Amino acid sequence: MAYKDVYDSWKADPEAFWMQAAEAIDWDRAPSKALFDKGDDLYEWFADGMVNTCWNAVDRHVEAGRGDQAAIIHDSPVTRSKREITYVELRNRVATLAGALRAKGIEKGDRVIIYMPMIPEALEAMLACARLGAIHSVVFGGFSASELAVRIDDAKPKAIIAASCGIEPGRVVHYKPLLDGAIDQAAHKPDFCVIFQREQEVAHLEEGRDYNWHGFQYGVEPAECVPVEGNHPAYILYTSGTTGAPKGVIRHTGGQLVALNWSMKNIYNVDPGDVFWAASDVGWVVGHSYICYAPLIHGNTTIVFEGKPVGTPDAGTFWRIIEEYKVRSFFTAPTALRAVKREDPKGEFVKKYDLSHLQAVYLAGERADPDTIEWAQKVLDKPIYDHWWQTETGWTIAGMPAGIEKLPVKIGSPSVPMPGYDVQILDEAGQPVKSGELGAIAVKLPLPPGTLPTLWNAEDRFRKSYLDHFPGYYETGDAGMIDEDGYLYIMARTDDVINVAGHRLSTGGMEEVLAAHPDVAECAVIGVTDQLKGQLPMGFVCLTKGVNRPHDEITAECVKLVREKIGPVAAFKLCLVVDRLPKTRSGKILRATMVKIADSAEFKAPATIDDPAILDEIRDALTTIGYAK
Ligand code: COA
Ligand code: AMP
Repeated sequence: MAYKDVYDSWKADPEAFWMQAAEAIDWDRAPSKALFDKGDDLYEWFADGMVNTCWNAVDRHVEAGRGDQAAIIHDSPVTRSKREITYVELRNRVATLAGALRAKGIEKGDRVIIYMPMIPEALEAMLACARLGAIHSVVFGGFSASELAVRIDDAKPKAIIAASCGIEPGRVVHYKPLLDGAIDQAAHKPDFCVIFQREQEVAHLEEGRDYNWHGFQYGVEPAECVPVEGNHPAYILYTSGTTGAPKGVIRHTGGQLVALNWSMKNIYNVDPGDVFWAASDVGWVVGHSYICYAPLIHGNTTIVFEGKPVGTPDAGTFWRIIEEYKVRSFFTAPTALRAVKREDPKGEFVKKYDLSHLQAVYLAGERADPDTIEWAQKVLDKPIYDHWWQTETGWTIAGMPAGIEKLPVKIGSPSVPMPGYDVQILDEAGQPVKSGELGAIAVKLPLPPGTLPTLWNAEDRFRKSYLDHFPGYYETGDAGMIDEDGYLYIMARTDDVINVAGHRLSTGGMEEVLAAHPDVAECAVIGVTDQLKGQLPMGFVCLTKGVNRPHDEITAECVKLVREKIGPVAAFKLCLVVDRLPKTRSGKILRATMVKIADSAEFKAPATIDDPAILDEIRDALTTIGYAK
């Protein structure tokens, strides 16, 4: 069947389409139907089925004879180590870990926060939660203690599983003091913590609260898989919204199993047994879906890579791994390819490796700029597929259905909508626009299986953020267009979310941090264009009357404050003191105009601007740091 036939067959009978896809999953009790309409624009999938994620991701492959196949390959240039874990080993390790968690009181529905670097134990912790029906919430290691504390207070975990440290090139990330600091700051306290002690740093354990990962598992009874309802939350993953309070995206068990399993063949074009690699981090949605769950559910081998595209040790690391493990499909962020391209523009490293097993490279997480795609096509001589999705959706909204049909690639477009997604471009009034016209990108409800049903403890926020603006649709927060061939183009965010090195960050959250500085009266944070990271945050602060300290002292404190409160991942290093911020007459800060000035782009001052002279002041300040040329 061609892509169009598959898409049309979904559209003609979504219920039959998804029930058929659900047959690939081992259910303890098969669902009686796919879609459950909860009313008021809320939907759930496979709600009356009973199923276990860990069984489907691990045990069933052992039963089916894949026990000796590598389930996880850990390749860690930063610790100079490599390790393989077979499916049977993974089953045994996860069952024991789950048994130990159960012995300490973890049950179905309890929340468990996981704060770990890129080591197989992070996946094992996720799978052990899934085995018990506990709901995990993985927090990215580049976040600060304060961000971790916010998540602890929202998810209210019974336990936290962490590692003693992470390794960033040139420095050890001390997880344990961050964890201790977060627990001190949070109002909610976990019953206990489990700490995986790494060779690189042995952390101090607090008597009575902290258990050693190994000691705590000693002599316990392994746990069996606990069947849960199809609509039981598998996990909560916090993502940036427009304010400092992150949104807790929920993923339901049944929908995730069906959708991720479907995506492995139809989008990533791999068969069970193939090696699949997503070079992301388990702290992000790509890590949840395509390092941990999808490859394992589908019986693939997944690679847990602890390193960077460059410098660990060189720009050939990606290609070395692809050769060494015979990777079939490779998923990374455009920023990572830009980093490689900068170090190896002619692709000299590529020539050193045999990439004959690689079928294609998949890019997501941010806009894939044409230069980078063209460079990758040239040096790799492989198809480069951009695809577009979000933490909220958990899998591709628009992409290349390479396992169904290899459509022509149009550079600048992540290709076409996947079955399940009726993507529409809407004007401000919520009316579909003509093809080729720009508008807000929305998806007609219901969203497909595997996408968010609501936000954790925040249904009102879910409605306000995604449903209220365009009744009957899910608002993606992205703007773009669809061409006459049905290809989608993603142009910009419609909110204050920015994308830094493929990491989604809230400028509103950074503004909240800057506003708390005692000398800052007012501030704005914008995302300026960056050759490597796509965007970088830039702060503008106006000082409180009477403050008379050197400006560089204050901006250095602001930079430190954002690193402390949000984390190094914010990459907040650009901060300027200005006298005034440009605003409309009603007091709205003209952030979009400031972005244009910083990027030296054409712009027209809005008619509603209060004092156009301020734009010149902003331009002058920017030229002092090499922007607004
Ligand atoms: N734990 C702790 N700190 C982390 C971290 C982690 N897991 N990940 C990143 N950081 C830190 C970095 O060390 C850096 O700190 P610094 O300010 O002390 O240098 C900071 O956060 C910013 O990191 P990053 O934006 O990743 O920049 P970088 O300069 O370290 O590397 C790239 C640049 C392009 C090589 C890198 O960003 C990269 O590989 N990006 C790919 C992103 C990706 O795969 N995203 C997945 C989304 S799908
Ligand atoms: P995240 O939730 O971190 O995955 O970020 C999702 C956001 O990243 C999207 O809403 C887009 O703004 C952006 N994004 C992700 N993939 C792409 C892509 N392929 N092209 C353009 N933007 C993308």
